[in-house]
Amino acid sequence: MPPASPDIHARLETERLYLRCYAEGDGAWYYPMCLRNRTHLSRYEPENPAMAIESEREAEVVVRSFALQWAEGRNFFLGAFDKMTDQFVAQVHVGLVSSELPEFQVGYFVDTEHEGHGYVTEAVRAVLLFAFQDLRAFRVRLECDDTNVRSINVAERCRMVREAHLRQNRKNRDGTFSGTMIYGLLRSEFAQQDSPREPGHSGGLSRRSSGTASGTGRSLPSAGPRPE
Ligand SMILES: CC(C)(COP(=O)(O)OP(=O)(O)OC[C@H]1O[C@@H](n2cnc3c(N)ncnc32)[C@H](O)[C@@H]1OP(=O)(O)O)[C@@H](O)C(=O)NCCC(=O)NCCS
Repeated sequence: MPPASPDIHARLETERLYLRCYAEGDGAWYYPMCLRNRTHLSRYEPENPAMAIESEREAEVVVRSFALQWAEGRNFFLGAFDKMTDQFVAQVHVGLVSSELPEFQVGYFVDTEHEGHGYVTEAVRAVLLFAFQDLRAFRVRLECDDTNVRSINVAERCRMVREAHLRQNRKNRDGTFSGTMIYGLLRSEFAQQDSPREPGHSGGLSRRSSGTASGTGRSLPSAGPRPE
């Protein structure tokens, strides 16, 4: 099955956030964002492109490459912004793992100044809907270090299912070992989730302004026949 190519101008909306693909000109704020997040990302995201960007020009090249990858239908980098202030709060990435199923993997980070407000959970829920609805995902997976409690909590708040715990399969830069938690969510499970909103938390997906999904319901279009 060829990769789906959702509208590059698609804008996902949640109660507090909007999410969009990066665009020309974003390098100007992306560079200072990378600088202030270096320490924050160093433990669990040492390979994140944000760790290596050394100038506004390099940041511009990277954000433009994110847009190109979106157009190729394999990697979708979404910036999440506060609706009230337009401030960047998080990034969520969805990458194609297998076009056969299709299966996608999600990854994310929160801007260090916005940690602990539920923004990532809110953004990831919207991105799960995007993956199942727009990208026609059959499965979405998430991998994280088994000591990354904050990331594990995001996966569990998004009602992903813990599928495996690989023990001590990572050697960290400081010489210590840690393991990998693997979470997964099936299209059928996501469709059965009655509401993405948790009582007492303003993390629900409210609507989206463009793209093919309505964003308000749980009903997903058929993914079509699956290849044998
Ligand atoms: C992993 C990471 C993205 C989690 O960020 P986070 O801010 O903890 O996650 P959320 O935005 O969902 O916020 C959840 C927290 O906000 C609190 N919160 C406050 N208001 C909330 C609301 N309205 N809705 C939901 N949660 C809310 C929750 O109680 C929770 O706090 P707690 O963990 O102290 O219980 C972040 O720690 C990070 O960027 N780490 C570095 C990069 C990284 O590890 N990426 C993941 C690699 S797999």
